[in-house]
Order: sequence, then C-alpha cells, then structure tokens
Amino acid sequence: MSNMTSIWAHRGASAVAPENTVSAFRRAVELGADGIELDVQRTADGKLVVIHDETLDRTTSGSGRVVEAVWDDIREVDASAGDPAFAGERLCLLEEVLELLAPTQMVLNVELKDGVEHYPGMDLQVAEAVRAAGMTDRVILSSFNHVQFAGSTELGLPLGLLYVELLWAVEEYAGAFGAAAVHPDFRTLSEPRLLERLHDKGIAVNAWTVNRRADLEQMFRRGVDAVITDEVELALQVRAEL
Ligand code: G3P
Ligand code: CA
Repeated sequence: MSNMTSIWAHRGASAVAPENTVSAFRRAVELGADGIELDVQRTADGKLVVIHDETLDRTTSGSGRVVEAVWDDIREVDASAGDPAFAGERLCLLEEVLELLAPTQMVLNVELKDGVEHYPGMDLQVAEAVRAAGMTDRVILSSFNHVQFAGSTELGLPLGLLYVELLWAVEEYAGAFGAAAVHPDFRTLSEPRLLERLHDKGIAVNAWTVNRRADLEQMFRRGVDAVITDEVELALQVRAEL
C-alpha cells in the first residue's frame, strides 16, 4: 500500500460534469484521478446501470423507479443535468465504465445501491462483469448494506464498508466481514487513534465526500488511503502542495 493518499472521483469528476455519466468518468481520467467511485442500480431487465438514486427523477429527464424500467427506455433519457455543454449525455451501464478504465491504471470503486431497493445477487453480477473485463485487481465493491456481504466468499473482490455513524470497535466489525476497507463519512474520523487501529489490522480507510481545501488537507495529513471527492482538480492541487 502506497503511503500517498489516492484521489477517487466521486460519481466521476462530478464538480465539472453531470454525475455518474461517461463525461464525468472521462474527465476524471483526463484530470489524472487515481480512481473513480460510482453507484450501481439494476433495471427491470437485469442491467447494471450507473445511477445514484433509485429513481430517474433527480438526475435525468425521465421519471420513475429504475427497478421498474427496462434499459431500452432508460438509455433514451437525458442525463445532461440541463447543461448545454453536455447535451445528448445519457446514462451508461457498468460495462461501459469498465471498458473505459480497462486500459488505464485506475481503481474503480463500485458502490452497490442495494439498500431500500433490494437487488438479490447484484454483488455477484457486478463481480462477474468485473471478471469479464479483466479488472479484478483494480475494483473494490462498497455498500451501506453490510449484511449482503456476510459470508460472501465467492465475490473474489475486496469489500469496503460504507458508513455515516462511527461504528463501535469498527476495526473488529470490519474484520468480521472480511472487509479490505472502511468507507466512512470523513467527519467521523476525528477519533485520534482510529486510523492507526484500522491500519494495524490491515484495513484501508477511504473517506468521503471530501470537497473543501481544509478537509482535503486534513485527510492527506492524517494519511487516509483514499479521499472520494467531487473536486478532483482541487484535491490534486492540494495534494501536490503538501
Ligand atoms: O461512496 C461514498 C459516497 O458515494 C457514499 O454516499 O450518497 O454519495 O453514494 P453517496
Ligand atoms: Ca456513492
């Protein structure tokens, strides 16, 4: 593990392009991010679509629940967020992002949005897509729904446990899931020895969503393994200045 903090583009370079779109992912590659974070939901016909919300409403011209729509309809909706610079932008499938990143050295953090909407077997489906793309050494799965990872030995991919509240004895908890990493809200990392305790157990700390200069500086100085940020350019600049 490198001792330099990695910079992962949250939903792609979402400060400068519509979130979770090919444009946002391309921009992250061009800017020189070390990795990309994205969110996956599943369509009615079983496609792994990259979108944060369970519905199309907030980020696209469409409406309704992703799980109730088929990909042929979803692919038609506009995902430009009303920005003329991104006219024609569409949602994309996980496979397209895997293809984009395969020739790079970048890490991909796939967040399984398997929460309120439950997608049985989505973790295995994602793992299969990752294997097919030959990217098992550069993908980490994460989820707020930790239960789906319990006893999961078939995935063959590292797991990151997302959380908002500080978990009691988090290093023991993460160890019990066989997690490679925890993905905390960065504001929960104030306990002075927490990072050290996790690192002592070989558990990486990938913190989100770190967007302000002062917070980025703090995370870099404290030695988290990755910051997940909308502000890729700022993060690169701050890291270079330290
Ligand atoms: O993976 C970190 C972060 O993306 C989790 O929250 O709501 O942005 O998916 P959210
Ligand atoms: Ca996410």
